[in-house]
Amino acid sequence: MPYQRLIADAMAAAVPHLHRGRVADYIPALAAADPSSFGMALATVDGEVHGVGDFERAFSIQSISKLFTLTLTLALGGDGLWERVGREPSGTPFNSLVQLEFEDGVPRNPFINAGALVVTDRLHSLTGDAAETVREFLRAESGAVIGTDAEVAVSEAGHGHRNSALAHFLASYGNLENPVATVLDHYYAHCAIAASCRDLALAGGFLARHGVRADGTRLLTRSEAKRVNAVMLTCGTYDAAGEFAYRVGLPGKSGVGGGILAVLPGVGAICVWSPGLDAQGNSVAGVAALDAFTTATGLSVF
Ligand code: DON
Repeated sequence: MPYQRLIADAMAAAVPHLHRGRVADYIPALAAADPSSFGMALATVDGEVHGVGDFERAFSIQSISKLFTLTLTLALGGDGLWERVGREPSGTPFNSLVQLEFEDGVPRNPFINAGALVVTDRLHSLTGDAAETVREFLRAESGAVIGTDAEVAVSEAGHGHRNSALAHFLASYGNLENPVATVLDHYYAHCAIAASCRDLALAGGFLARHGVRADGTRLLTRSEAKRVNAVMLTCGTYDAAGEFAYRVGLPGKSGVGGGILAVLPGVGAICVWSPGLDAQGNSVAGVAALDAFTTATGLSVF
């Protein structure tokens, strides 16, 4: 397929949506992002990258990092994680607290903030450094220099009352192994990783290759890769997961920095970035571009 032309067409379809969203401002360091920025990259299973717009510009990956914490935790620690976090869509906003009490301190899924804190905690126990484990993985898959934007991490920590509340609540149910402060530090640090569409499309390649990394080694079994893709499809865009599946038809993981990483199993991974968000915290132009791409190409999991 002529991927370069197809993603250029998808970008053209997304341009009218560039100013329809709102930049995340509950993390003050993200409020200055330019809503007219747009980038899109497709990395094929062979590692060939096609990109348009600002596809090589680093942005704050935020919740896209939760895909990597989940994967690395499953790869290193196995299925035990599922005793501490569920895998059902929540139907609630990503930072909601209400379900956690009704459901005895077991978060609905690993992508809402409560679930992601449990995953970070587990990854930290398994590795001794959850955030660095994620950075290392991204560097290895993309070949890029990747780090945490300390200003964003500090900015979020300074305004992180909801995440602090969630972490303490999890601890009250005995669902954290590490001190609350440690878990939050690592969570903010992996959310504040800066990476580009190019880097993330390459880093998501293992899901398109059914669990095999860029260097040919296996990270997840084929069955585990299917399961991670399934959780992305059902929970990766929070209370908009139904709408995202309806419009895009691919597993996808969004972040409030405006990025979305989507997987075309057997074909490649696509990352799109534009900072204007909808009410559910997903990039408006990003969803529009992915919608245009899968509609034009017929490439979807359905
Ligand atoms: O915890 C937070 O609120 C952010 N660090 C991440 C949230 C996020 O990216 C949700 N995604 N759309």
